[in-house]
Amino acid sequence: MLSISVSRNLPHSPRLLTSLPGPRAKALVERDHAVTSPSYTRDYPLVVARGEGCMVEDVDGNVFLDMTAGIAVTSTGHCHPEVVRAIQDQSANLLHMSGTDFYYQPMIELAEMLAELSPLPHSLLGGEGIRYKAKVFFSNSGTESNEGAIKLARYYTKRNSVVAFLGAFHGRTYGAMSLTASKTVQRAKFGSLLPGVTHIPYGTHASLDYLENQLFTTMLPPDEVAAIIVEPIQGEGGYIVPEDGFLQRIREICDQHNILMVVDEVQSGMGRTGKLFAIEHWNVAPDIITTAKGIASGLPLGAIIARAEIMTWKPGSHATTFGGNPVACAAGIATLRLLVRELMDNATQMGELLQAGLLKLHQRYGRISKPRGKGLMVAVDVLDTEGNLSKQARDSIVNQAFHRGLLLLGCGQAAIRFCPPLVIDSEQIQVALDIIDDIVASY
Ligand SMILES: Cc1ncc(COP(=O)(O)O)c(C=O)c1O
Repeated sequence: MLSISVSRNLPHSPRLLTSLPGPRAKALVERDHAVTSPSYTRDYPLVVARGEGCMVEDVDGNVFLDMTAGIAVTSTGHCHPEVVRAIQDQSANLLHMSGTDFYYQPMIELAEMLAELSPLPHSLLGGEGIRYKAKVFFSNSGTESNEGAIKLARYYTKRNSVVAFLGAFHGRTYGAMSLTASKTVQRAKFGSLLPGVTHIPYGTHASLDYLENQLFTTMLPPDEVAAIIVEPIQGEGGYIVPEDGFLQRIREICDQHNILMVVDEVQSGMGRTGKLFAIEHWNVAPDIITTAKGIASGLPLGAIIARAEIMTWKPGSHATTFGGNPVACAAGIATLRLLVRELMDNATQMGELLQAGLLKLHQRYGRISKPRGKGLMVAVDVLDTEGNLSKQARDSIVNQAFHRGLLLLGCGQAAIRFCPPLVIDSEQIQVALDIIDDIVASY
């Protein structure tokens, strides 16, 4: 078993001191509701004061085991000392200068690391000026990484159309939202969206048959398609692992028609599945990778990593004031070092334990499906007594878990997702399993 370096001041398992929400949390939730946008989706009234490793403490001193990592973001755990130190050191020296107009070392260093570590094919062209197989553009978020990827794919291929998948979540700004097909609430009343986007079902060969044999022959000329954008494991859509050969076949289709394969690793990337990028599980080399979330352990940062010969857009064609902020990049460098040193391996080991435990719960109760996923990107569906997916039962389990000190999030139609910080240990996995066992047993 690996020993993961996280300081311990908070208890290692849940500690509830008040009923939930406690008095301070209740007052803050009321203040929040009076003044913040009602578009936020809060499933339960958790008001966080601090975090450490896999534990978070609320404003009333209640301590929770966090199986959400702030929506798959705090990859190295909350406030990992090495990440905090990197942030502190960098912020004492330089907070901002804008990588769009100036140079600074953390941005260069992180780009070098990502270019080295990303599973992109070596440059097809090689030659002058191409020292790395990839080039990196830094953004501030997942949606922004995907916006940029669409622009880059159109720019490079001089083609207009994009193929995306039903159930996909790529973000909520207009370009990314046009690719998103997760829940109608995310699109309703916001039209018109980006033209030229075609959605097909996710994860099956039947869907790719439809693309090749129907769409490409009737209404979507493949030589007008700039990119196929795909999540290697569909995240918000339910932590869906595609059929064997699905991702390889997308690669083949792209090769056949000179279409760019863009993989959205915003949720599945940065070590979460036990590899730096989930696509590596299938040995597929994409053309463009988009990432964000776990890349800087909680600081806002995203990246587009593209084959060097693709990232050819001209100065001024794409840029952002804040993207690649020096403090966020310093956090990213510390994060990447930790992932490579120990946390990707831990994700693999702990993910196996988690899936083994969930499988036992499935066998014992039948109200939850077999687990699916890779590493610490794991989900189970919640079923009613007839074996149908039950959103209501799922929401109820997530809510009861909160009241027992376990933080969970749903995804898909009726799934519970487990995306804890990658520092989680076997004791904490067991605590989570015991709490879920207790809840499901009472159904
Ligand atoms: C796969 C995927 N892509 C893109 C996004 C959008 O990221 P952000 O919320 O940082 O804009 C998300 C967010 O959940 C995601 O899961």
